[in-house]
Amino acid sequence: MNPTPDSPLLQHLVDDIAEQGWSMQSVFLPSDLTGALAAECRARSEAGELAAASVGRGAGQAVREGIRGDHIQWLEPGQSAACDRYLELMDCLRQALNRGLYLGLEDFECHFALYPPGAFYQKHLDRFRDDDRRTVSAVLYLNDDWQPQDAGELRLYLPDGAEREVPPLGGSLVLFLSSDFPHEVLPANRERLSLTGWFRRRA
Ligand code: OGA
Ligand code: MN
Repeated sequence: MNPTPDSPLLQHLVDDIAEQGWSMQSVFLPSDLTGALAAECRARSEAGELAAASVGRGAGQAVREGIRGDHIQWLEPGQSAACDRYLELMDCLRQALNRGLYLGLEDFECHFALYPPGAFYQKHLDRFRDDDRRTVSAVLYLNDDWQPQDAGELRLYLPDGAEREVPPLGGSLVLFLSSDFPHEVLPANRERLSLTGWFRRRA
């Protein structure tokens, strides 16, 4: 895979964001890369590198499992070939979004997230009150052979009042405007893995 910002798949995502503010691509990553990222997420978890995620910012930051129960670790460039391939692809998507929509996106931050069985993330917006740089949210799922009875859907609340429930199928990507789409993660019946990230604009 040698992604460029002109690839039809990325253009399709840009068109969806322009038209409806969100997009779901069920086949976004090649399965070898999805598998490598899932293995890396599990290895980091087994090495004790994932930490309970917190809510809020600064002095108000705290772990509250009644709000969100996932465990996370941020990605840095240069940690593994698989992570670097993913970051490279997302940088192409950043450039495609900037070209098509003039969003002025400057960077992409993302973390592995592992939800143990029963964990959830209550309805929220991804934009902080005191920091509005997060502009487009991107969630890439890493779960092999996810079945409807595994639950754990992402529920998106659309601006027109409708709701969409997206199952966390391996290799699929959900993209949405961070300030416009409240969303929640429903409890799953098995471990649920993802890479969750944000395209941010200049401060
Ligand atoms: C988040 C989030 C959605 C998901 O981490 O902010 O909303 O489907 N994740 O994992
Ligand atoms: Mn969120």
